[in-house]
Amino acid sequence: MPKFPSLSRRSLMGGAVATGAAMAGLGATAPEAAAAPAPGTPRRRPGQKSMIGVAHDVHASVRVGVIGLGNRGSGMSLGWAAVPSCVVTAVCDIRADRAKRTADQLVGKGKPRPAEYGGSADSYAELLKRDDIDLVYIATPWEFHYEQGKAALLAGKHVIVELPIATELDELWDLVDTSERTRRHLMLAENCSYGRNELAMLKMAHEGMFGDITNGHGGYLHDLRALLFSDTYYTDGWRRLWHTRSTASFYAMHGLAPIAAAMDINRGDRMTTLRATATEPKGLADYRARFVDRSHPSWNETYVNGDLVTCLIDTAQGRVIRAEHDVSSPRPYSRINTLAGSRGIFEDYAGVVSSGGGRIYVEPDHGGHSWRDFGSYRKEFDHWLWKKIGDDAANNGGHGGMDYVLQWRTVQQMRAGLVPDIDVYDSAAWCAPVPLSVMSLANDGRPVAVPDFTRGDWVNLRLGLDSRPSDMPPVA
Ligand SMILES: NC(=O)c1ccc[n+]([C@@H]2O[C@H](COP(=O)([O-])OP(=O)(O)OC[C@H]3O[C@@H](n4cnc5c(N)ncnc54)[C@H](O)[C@@H]3O)[C@@H](O)[C@H]2O)c1
Repeated sequence: MPKFPSLSRRSLMGGAVATGAAMAGLGATAPEAAAAPAPGTPRRRPGQKSMIGVAHDVHASVRVGVIGLGNRGSGMSLGWAAVPSCVVTAVCDIRADRAKRTADQLVGKGKPRPAEYGGSADSYAELLKRDDIDLVYIATPWEFHYEQGKAALLAGKHVIVELPIATELDELWDLVDTSERTRRHLMLAENCSYGRNELAMLKMAHEGMFGDITNGHGGYLHDLRALLFSDTYYTDGWRRLWHTRSTASFYAMHGLAPIAAAMDINRGDRMTTLRATATEPKGLADYRARFVDRSHPSWNETYVNGDLVTCLIDTAQGRVIRAEHDVSSPRPYSRINTLAGSRGIFEDYAGVVSSGGGRIYVEPDHGGHSWRDFGSYRKEFDHWLWKKIGDDAANNGGHGGMDYVLQWRTVQQMRAGLVPDIDVYDSAAWCAPVPLSVMSLANDGRPVAVPDFTRGDWVNLRLGLDSRPSDMPPVA
């Protein structure tokens, strides 16, 4: 198993040798190497070049166009507009009244009125023709993400897409290829990767606190049953309908991505194979039988997606990731967020709220087989983004502030001309379990190969979410 050099706090202190791109001293310009492309990797076409390490042009301000203005898109529109030197210039929803509603809300917050688009499924194409949009944010149902994300790239915009960026392997490859051709960045709006615990865990991993990282677990375990059957939440029940179509890990990225970051996936390691299991689909039908009126349209539906879909993912460095998805069972919320190595373990969602819900056990600090409170570690390893804008995040953003951290950092990267923390390769890799879980389950849970969207560049250590502190440029 190849090992990478490291500069962990512990190794500098004469302690454990850690793996990881930690490395305060490691820049985006580490020596380039490339692994042989994985079998079956499609070749780049002429005119296509890697987007790894490609910095944004400097933007004096960032002008955002928003597509999809339901629960998520309307709230995030206000979040974008709250970031310094970011303005929402256009909004679009197939339902024109939602475009007006969001425009009114922005004006109500003292922001300029954005242009409104709506009325048809293609209205977004009109929005994309505008020349006062630098970044398109897409928050429509999953079935539209690929088409709208690709169209935004082809229109010359950078694009940030809600989870997942696409649901099929050929679509994921096409988004990678289109980004490489258009020289525009496409990133997953993976807000949980900017969670305070997740980023502290990342820093600890990269400073060698867990020793050699061997395994990690993450997922999306959220009892959505009431919302899935609500007539006023997911528009036309789009999210429930996905559960009638296939057995898949639709939405594990919120827990998978932070684990992948801590393991340097695409930055020194890569996911190689995935095997999936699924429990029987029981939860939604049981909920419907108990709580949903017989006249409801859902009574025409048959749910086929397993309640708990688990993916076991092997990496090139010999690590194992377990990624879970369950939105159909009664249970408290969890993204699991657990990372372990030769010197210790962190477990999130352990119920200790004062320390952000986490517990920890690392040698040599701890012994006696007893968990310790994560609080002091969370403070010591707090990511610079949370130190800098944690208060603003608490005042402006949903999901405990991590939405605002994602938005602030995305705008900062574009204004300062930085390399994105999350690129199209990360986005494609984190979403690949959607189609790969379907393929594995169709084949009795046998392992399927995970594509290498970097085409061999994964071997190079480089910074990502473990970015270095930097300032938002002053307002021009
Ligand atoms: N990152 C997160 O924490 C987070 C949280 C919630 C939702 N999401 C994601 O956000 C997306 C939207 O979810 P939601 O809860 O807001 O759903 P929603 O049903 O409330 O909103 C979807 C909106 O898209 C609009 N729409 C549908 N087709 C369209 C088209 N062709 N053009 C323009 N608009 C169209 C609908 O009219 C609706 O207003 C999903 O991908 C979901 O997974 C992410």
